[in-house]
Amino acid sequence: METWTINKLLNWVTQYLKDRGIESPRLSAELLLSSVLGLKRIELYTHHDMQIAKPDLDKLHVLVKRAANNEPIAYLVGKTEFYSMEMEVSQDCLIPRPETELLAQRAIEFLRMRDGIQHVCDLCTGCGCIAVAVAKNFPQARIIATDISDQALAIAARNIERHNLQERIKLLSGDLFDPIIPQLDTGKFDLIVCNPPYVSAVEYDKLDKNVKDYEPRLALFAGEDGLDIYKRIIEKVDMFLKPDAALMLEIGYAQGQAVHKLLELSGVFTEIKIEKDFHNNDRIVSAVKIKS
Ligand SMILES: C[S@@+](CC[C@H](N)C(=O)[O-])C[C@H]1O[C@@H](n2cnc3c(N)ncnc32)[C@H](O)[C@@H]1O
Repeated sequence: METWTINKLLNWVTQYLKDRGIESPRLSAELLLSSVLGLKRIELYTHHDMQIAKPDLDKLHVLVKRAANNEPIAYLVGKTEFYSMEMEVSQDCLIPRPETELLAQRAIEFLRMRDGIQHVCDLCTGCGCIAVAVAKNFPQARIIATDISDQALAIAARNIERHNLQERIKLLSGDLFDPIIPQLDTGKFDLIVCNPPYVSAVEYDKLDKNVKDYEPRLALFAGEDGLDIYKRIIEKVDMFLKPDAALMLEIGYAQGQAVHKLLELSGVFTEIKIEKDFHNNDRIVSAVKIKS
């Protein structure tokens, strides 16, 4: 019978995925193999001549076939990295994107400029990645994170526990601000951060197969022009913000001007800024509430 070492398998899986047009085939092969073997990626190289047992070969075979069919690697291995932290994910939540790390970073920077305990709201928390990154990097944050999907919230709860942040992040289930009763829960917030669904109808139809076929529509689609959730947040946000508090939103690459306009028209904000991501696309809109 043919023997398979880690090194030989890595090369074979990489080529198999590459031939089927899968992005980052080497990284994907490493992630799948390390998941099946319970090894860190680096250990695949320090144990490169280790022989793989038949049951592990069978498990890998199933995963590689699913990956070749465009199923996201993060769902296959049940986790991904966000802000250098491991996050559990499943098909019940969006896979956090590297672009969203910029939103988390700006949130942390804003909070670090302020004194004392800071009350933060993470709307549309999904797997909880933004709330967890903020809480881990800013110990004075007290966070309320909400989502309309109870399945996503179950994953967020496990991520919060995994990073030992149960004392500082409270999860609430419901539509945007609905589950938050301002005076009862925290008073008002110093920062509201949100990466909402923002894909328009036309864009949704054109999404890559690995997104459209596997990630929750609820996490992506936001009406005809993709602006539904921004409109609903901006309509209500005033009563949840302290006078000098900030709102930070992730946006789609073509939505900067539209979201800027919505914020301007609300009459609630000053210092409205659009920031680009590392692909030079508009990605974050931030604004500060006018002191009244
Ligand atoms: C784009 S995902 C973002 C998830 C996570 N914050 C991230 O950055 O990876 C949007 C999330 O919004 C949630 N969502 C959709 N509509 C909502 C609503 N009306 N109220 C609250 N959450 C909603 C979805 O369930 C999904 O988890």
